[in-house]
Amino acid sequence: MQTQFLVDEAVEALQSQIDDTAIIACSGGIDSTVAAVLAHRAVGSMLHCVYVDTGLMRLNESDEVSEMFADLGIELKIVDASERFFSHLSGVTDPEEKRKVIGEQFIRVFEEEQDGCGAKFLVQGTIAPDWIESGGGERDVIKSHHNVGGLPEDVDLEIVEPLREFYKDEVRAIARELNIPSSERQPFPGPGLAVRVLGELTPDRVESCRQACHIVETHLEEAAERGECDLPWQYFAALLPVRSVGVHGDVRVHGETVVVRAVTSLDGMSARYSEIPHEILAKISTKITNSLKGQVNRVVYDITHKPPGTIEWE
Ligand code: XMP
Repeated sequence: MQTQFLVDEAVEALQSQIDDTAIIACSGGIDSTVAAVLAHRAVGSMLHCVYVDTGLMRLNESDEVSEMFADLGIELKIVDASERFFSHLSGVTDPEEKRKVIGEQFIRVFEEEQDGCGAKFLVQGTIAPDWIESGGGERDVIKSHHNVGGLPEDVDLEIVEPLREFYKDEVRAIARELNIPSSERQPFPGPGLAVRVLGELTPDRVESCRQACHIVETHLEEAAERGECDLPWQYFAALLPVRSVGVHGDVRVHGETVVVRAVTSLDGMSARYSEIPHEILAKISTKITNSLKGQVNRVVYDITHKPPGTIEWE
C-alpha cells in the first residue's frame, strides 16, 4: 500500500518535471530499470530508453536486458559502444580515472543519441548511497559513482533522478510493486566489470573477469538452491594484476589472481563477508583455474567487512 503511494508520487513528480523528450540509459540493473518504468508510466513515448553495450557487461547480459524490456512492453535501443570504451580506457589504471572516463563516454554516447531523438531531459537511476558516497558536503569522496561524480560539467541535458532519496531495499520494494523481473537480482555497479578488473582494461582481461564472475554466480546460486548456503546479497569475482607462480601439468605458469567476493548487506552502505562453506569455494576455485588456464592460476577469498573495505575492489 505504502509502496503504491511511493510509485504514484514518483510518477506525478516526473510528470511535472518532464515536459519534453527524455532519454534514459538502461543497464538492466534494478535502479535504472525502476527509473525507466516510472518515467515510461509518467511520459510514455516521450521517453527514449537506450542500452549502451560498453563491453563491460556480464555474460549474456545484453540479450537478457533486451528480452526484459520487450516483456515490460518498453522499446529499448541497443548501442554497441564497446570499441569506443576500450579505446578511451586504454592505459588507464587509476580507479577514479576509470570511473571518470566511463562516465564521460556514457554522456558522449548519450549526446549522440540525444541528437537523434532531440531529448532535453536525462533520467537517471541514482539512489541515495550513490551520491552520499560520492561526497556531498563535508564527506570524503569514497568512490565517484559513474552516474554522479564522473559526469562532465558541460552536460547539455537537464538531469532527473526519481530514486535519489531511496535506498536499495526501498528500490527493490518498488520494483516488486512494478512487477519488474529483475527485482531480486543482485546489484551490479554502473561502470560494470571495469571496477572488477584492477589494472589495465583489455578485452582479454575483461573477458577473464566476465567468465570468473559467471562461475561465482552460477555456483553460489546453485548451491543456495540446493540449501548448501544462503545466497549472499552480492557475489562476484575481481581480477587482480598480481602474478604468481603456478603449475599446470608439468608446465610452470605465471598467471594472474582472481579474488572471490561475497557479502551480506541490507543496502550496500555496510556489509559483512559471507561465510561460504569451503567445499563450495573449492569447487569455484577449481572451475576458475580450469576455465582460465594460463591466465589465472590462483584464487583467493576476500574476508573483509565494509567498513573498512568497500564491496567492490575499485
Ligand atoms: P561499494 O564498492 O562502494 O559498493 O561498497 C556499494 C554498492 O554500490 C555498487 N556500486 C555502484 N553502483 N555505480 C553504481 O550504480 C557505481 O559506480 C558503483 N560502484 C559501486 C556496488 O556494486 C555495491 O552494490
